[in-house]
Amino acid sequence: MPGMLEEVLAGLTATTRAIPPKYFYDDHGSLLFDRICSTQEYYLTRTETDLLISHGTDIIATTRPAQILELGSGISHKVRLLLDACGKLSHTCEYAPFDVCEEMVDLATNRLAADYPWLSITPLLGDYHAGLGNLPKTGGVRLLAFLGSSIGNFTAAAGREFVRDIRLSLQPGDFFLLGADRVKSAAILHAAYNDADGITAEFNLNILRVLNSTIQANFDLDNFSHSAVYNADLGQIEMYLIAKQEQKVQLGKAGISIRLAAGERILTEISRKYGVVELESMFIDNDFKLVRHYQPDNQWYSLLLAQVPG
Ligand code: SAH
Ligand code: AVI
Repeated sequence: MPGMLEEVLAGLTATTRAIPPKYFYDDHGSLLFDRICSTQEYYLTRTETDLLISHGTDIIATTRPAQILELGSGISHKVRLLLDACGKLSHTCEYAPFDVCEEMVDLATNRLAADYPWLSITPLLGDYHAGLGNLPKTGGVRLLAFLGSSIGNFTAAAGREFVRDIRLSLQPGDFFLLGADRVKSAAILHAAYNDADGITAEFNLNILRVLNSTIQANFDLDNFSHSAVYNADLGQIEMYLIAKQEQKVQLGKAGISIRLAAGERILTEISRKYGVVELESMFIDNDFKLVRHYQPDNQWYSLLLAQVPG
């Protein structure tokens, strides 16, 4: 990936050492994420899926999209619920999955093509931050979906900025469907990111394997442990890799290295949890009209549908 070494180096030498979470998702990392989604503790996927099952038909009847464009589509499981709703309403549209993981986009495209013969698919590959300003044109209404609470991987300010950038990439009449996790008890959140089978830990450590194979780093995975803690002040899970001992790690072929002290942490992901007011104001402040706000009885999750006025 162009610029990856520079980006990783900048993150690992910053005051708070960090690795961008998009690097979790090589083919193995994406499969590990999929396994996290099936754990009993990770309620997010189940909850959002249930909302799409209950409200998919309403979403399609309301939006009647010419195209569904999904940011961070992964294996494209959830969009099937919207495509099934299209089938029920005899509505057809295009689908544009946009993801950084080529293997997942290919797999999803092949499977969807087999299961939805009427669907025309335009895969988009790369970093959605860079691609947002340059989305392919549609012949009608676009429904842009950003599901799975991926908005939680941004800080509060960056999340608002991202919603603004999405707004700027859309045309009057287009829709935005956002899935976001909600603030809840620390115990439930802690369990969701520390599953008993250790799949989240494996997912977290896999980011080091990705760096080893893509930028010729030499992280020893056995020298790190997984940590995910809820920061109640910021309303976010913070996921770290903690150095078990003092160590020197080489990055790239040019002999650059960093030294980590025992106990030193590398931030690999934040997962912000939202309150209703913050979520809804993100839309309203960015000149979206909020059309629907679906949530389960326990209010653990929000699925918001908004439209660009005019
Ligand atoms: N939307 C799916 C998958 C969520 S996992 C769901 O709800 O289950 C996050 C997905 O976003 C992964 O497939 C990952 O490859 C992708 N992703 C993460 N950061 C990205 C970025 N900056 N640009 C493009 N895709 C990204
Ligand atoms: C994709 N993303 C929103 C997930 C989350 O909950 O932050 C990734 C994840 N990390 C650990 N478990 C799941």
